[in-house]
Amino acid sequence: MSEILTSAATPASARLTGRTLVDVRGLSIGFADVNGGGPLVRGVDLTIHAGECVALVGESGSGKSLTARSLIGLAGTHARIDAQRFEIDGRAALEFRERDWRAVRGGFAGLVMQDALVSLDPLRTVGREIGETLARHAKRQSRAQRAAAVHAVMRDVGIPEPERRAAQYAHELSGGQRQRIVIARAIASEPALIVCDEPVSALDVYVQAQVLDLLGELQARLGTALLFISHDLDVVQHVSDRVLVLKDGRAVETGATAEVFSAPQADYTKRLLRSAPTLQTQRRAA
Ligand SMILES: Nc1ncnc2c1ncn2[C@@H]1O[C@H](COP(=O)(O)OP(=O)(O)OP(=O)(O)O)[C@@H](O)[C@H]1O
Ligand SMILES: [Mg+2]
Repeated sequence: MSEILTSAATPASARLTGRTLVDVRGLSIGFADVNGGGPLVRGVDLTIHAGECVALVGESGSGKSLTARSLIGLAGTHARIDAQRFEIDGRAALEFRERDWRAVRGGFAGLVMQDALVSLDPLRTVGREIGETLARHAKRQSRAQRAAAVHAVMRDVGIPEPERRAAQYAHELSGGQRQRIVIARAIASEPALIVCDEPVSALDVYVQAQVLDLLGELQARLGTALLFISHDLDVVQHVSDRVLVLKDGRAVETGATAEVFSAPQADYTKRLLRSAPTLQTQRRAA
């Protein structure tokens, strides 16, 4: 087993327990040249504690990605972000400069997006890609130590023969392996939070299940929190503790996933749930 999942000195879960990672009230996000400058995300409240999985659901264009990206400084250079409270890792982040956000992304938070081929650099080996995150996180490692750490993280995400694979480029790997590399890169710095924006949408169902298991394992063993975005409500029901339902940039419903899915309050949530085929079958069977 690798250093990452077994790091004995201070287990991450112990280090993180009880921490409020994200505390946002009245979040609004807009762009001067879009929607007449009006906000695309409006009045959203979002709290994420260590170790929990919070899901964002809602139809396409409802503001899920924008909301999630704003928490790691990636809403876009021209994004206008406003909030009554906007605390990331206990710090008021509205005043953050790019340098502060880079530090957030280098250690506190990792990002896993849908399309691994786009988010991986075609000109760098996947080993170097992961190594770079490690270099930012653990600055004083020798080259040999870093290579060993890269292989360890790759093994953690279920990539066999990491010594050989580390020397390959993204296009030489399968879609599922690429997504594992993206996850490996995201967890290399042992972040407290991983933002997963449709992390399994591009994968076949078998690989989907493996990647979801892996994320669940990180959550359980390291106390990693997940902000999870997916159109697949079946998956959301399975993996998340709490859910936020977005419509036109507003949160129309929020609560424990089990409660929202079994007794939705908002009409929009009811419609959204009705449109999920497997959930419907479960309901009928129940
Ligand atoms: N960088 C940007 N510049 C201008 N407008 C943007 C930008 N990012 C998002 N938007 C707009 O904000 C709205 C919300 O987009 P967002 O990407 O958050 O939707 P989403 O809920 O993630 O949708 P999907 O399920 O299709 O991914 C959309 O109208 C989109 O066009
Ligand atoms: Mg999106």
